[in-house]
Amino acid sequence: MANILVTGGAGFIGSHTCVELLDAGHDVIVFDNLCNSSVESLQRVEQLTQKNIIFIEGDIRKQQQLDEVFQQHQIDAVIHFAGLKAVGESQKIPLAYFDNNVAGSTTLFKAMEKAQVFTLVFSSSATVYGDTHPSPLKETMPTGMPNNNYGYTKLIVEQMLEKLAEADARWSIALLRYFNPVGAHESGEIGEDPQGIPNNLMPYVTQVAIGKREKLSIFGHDYDTVDGTGVRDYIHVVDLADAHLCALNNRLKDTGCRAWNIGTGNGFSVLQIRNTFQDINQVDVPFEYSARREGDVATCFADNQRALDELGWQPKRGLKEMLKDSWNWQKKNPQGYRST
Ligand code: NAD
Ligand code: UD1
Repeated sequence: MANILVTGGAGFIGSHTCVELLDAGHDVIVFDNLCNSSVESLQRVEQLTQKNIIFIEGDIRKQQQLDEVFQQHQIDAVIHFAGLKAVGESQKIPLAYFDNNVAGSTTLFKAMEKAQVFTLVFSSSATVYGDTHPSPLKETMPTGMPNNNYGYTKLIVEQMLEKLAEADARWSIALLRYFNPVGAHESGEIGEDPQGIPNNLMPYVTQVAIGKREKLSIFGHDYDTVDGTGVRDYIHVVDLADAHLCALNNRLKDTGCRAWNIGTGNGFSVLQIRNTFQDINQVDVPFEYSARREGDVATCFADNQRALDELGWQPKRGLKEMLKDSWNWQKKNPQGYRST
């Protein structure tokens, strides 16, 4: 069993990954500046797992804070979630994204090198493929230019990590390219807690269902897809969390830098999501069609064969579980973590 430093561990994907790590017997140290989360998520993780987390409030841009963490704890590996993720915001304030996601990451990698910790799992995104390849997207396809600054920061960090592993064989790095994470822990105790108006589809749907928003706007219905609406590869956050555990086990045994797609390999349209959500949860989600959103593609889904073959990972939860668990979390926590 290992000591894992989880940056951004109080966030949506980080908190679910902490559950899996603790359940697997690892010790977890979370380092998070709480700019988009609260410690409540970690308290709930502790209740769910009946295990303790060491929480350090800190910022990955602060070298000294990171050095102290590595001096005070014997860390075996790092899972790096910390960063900003709002696509629209990244177009308005690019420097904040370069600072948090790029400079913050290099600061973390420097602290790791100094502490002789070379095992890393990095939260990347399908956005690094750019928008020219047809789906299914494969890791053997060259990366492209993401059409927003958020995506660009993910591409830069991926490329830095590849260079780092080329230059120094002690590094062992997993680049996990997430498709569309949704769902929540089946208990409904932890889930996605967006601040303000959600940018992503699933939290928007659940907020319409609970009456917090009037109706869903479906961005475009003239795409060349099954029903004209955009198709994406939704992945249950618990399956995604499990992929981190598999990647960690793989990286603790091997060196180099390698990318894996983490998606189910199935695409669903926005309309299919909305309709299935209504059916299985027996709740109304009024909608209207609106214009296409800038930067959206018609279809994006994964070829996940490499992750299945090499990581021994298998997504276990289908669309119904994703939609049921998203709704269960929203119903139990209508105001997110702020309701407690
Ligand atoms: P999130 O915002 O819920 O979690 C990110 C966490 O990082 C938050 O707890 C935040 O407080 C923390 N953080 C941000 N900047 C920090 C800094 N400078 N120092 C310390 N902590 C900081 O987001 P999430 O959905 O859990 O995403 C986790 C990671 O996965 C991010 O890197 C994100 O870009 C990536 N990712 C997310 C998605 C998605 O759809 N959610 C898709 C692809 C990739
Ligand atoms: C978006 C980002 C991507 C990022 C990912 C995870 C863009 C262009 N892409 O991916 O870079 O990695 O989130 O944070 O922003 N939709 C609606 N109505 C809504 C919201 C979404 O119809 O209110 C549609 C979208 O047009 C899309 C699908 O739902 O077809 C999924 O959208 P979303 O959840 O935002 O994810 P992506 O666009 O795939």
